[in-house]
Amino acid sequence: RVDTEPARRLLAWYDRHARALPWRSPPGAPPPDPYRVWLSEIMLQQTTVAAVKPYFRHFMARWPTVEALAAADDAELMSAWAGLGYYARARNLLACARAVAAQGGFPDSESALLKLPGIGAYTAAAVAAIAFGRRAVVIDANVERVVARLFALADPLPAARPALRALVDRVTPASRAGDFAQAMMDLGATICTPRSPACILCPLESLCAGKAAPAAYPVKAAK
Ligand code: ADE
Repeated sequence: RVDTEPARRLLAWYDRHARALPWRSPPGAPPPDPYRVWLSEIMLQQTTVAAVKPYFRHFMARWPTVEALAAADDAELMSAWAGLGYYARARNLLACARAVAAQGGFPDSESALLKLPGIGAYTAAAVAAIAFGRRAVVIDANVERVVARLFALADPLPAARPALRALVDRVTPASRAGDFAQAMMDLGATICTPRSPACILCPLESLCAGKAAPAAYPVKAAK
């Protein structure tokens, strides 16, 4: 059922090439705490890694814990968020921090994380995998593209989302699911890019069913 070779190769690649990002732990260190993971993942929705970095650093310096953020002044938080856009995210951020602080910390399961304000399927899976080492199926646009290419998924998105999810599940390893998810994101951001992917550098190249025509994937339904 589980296809282990892609994860084996991808994790070996990640051990050498992971991007050093402010919300990540250094290689071999314990995983980042859930507050860092949650905050970074919320900021990274609709905003680029480069744009998020200074905001993430400022937030961690100003509000180092979820309890500190829960006690933040609304107006100060909204002005610290200014520039990241999508202000509903900032309002949900505060609501979520308050709910988490009230329950004594972040829950460690995907299902409990999903119940928190502003936490959807992606964020719940990412926090469960990256902060808590849970085996969760993490899917963002980068993962979609990498996996659609790897399997040359012919069916168009969005209808094929369940099929794509089954493929991501199939290649997600039992351990290091958080590193695996972040390795997929790094691969998608640096090698398996939307246009002109650098297949020659890709650790999955010899396994990739879509390598002859990467630009064709993911197939999208006609609008
Ligand atoms: N984009 C969203 N989450 C990310 C992460 N954890 N690492 C790199 N890019 C990301």
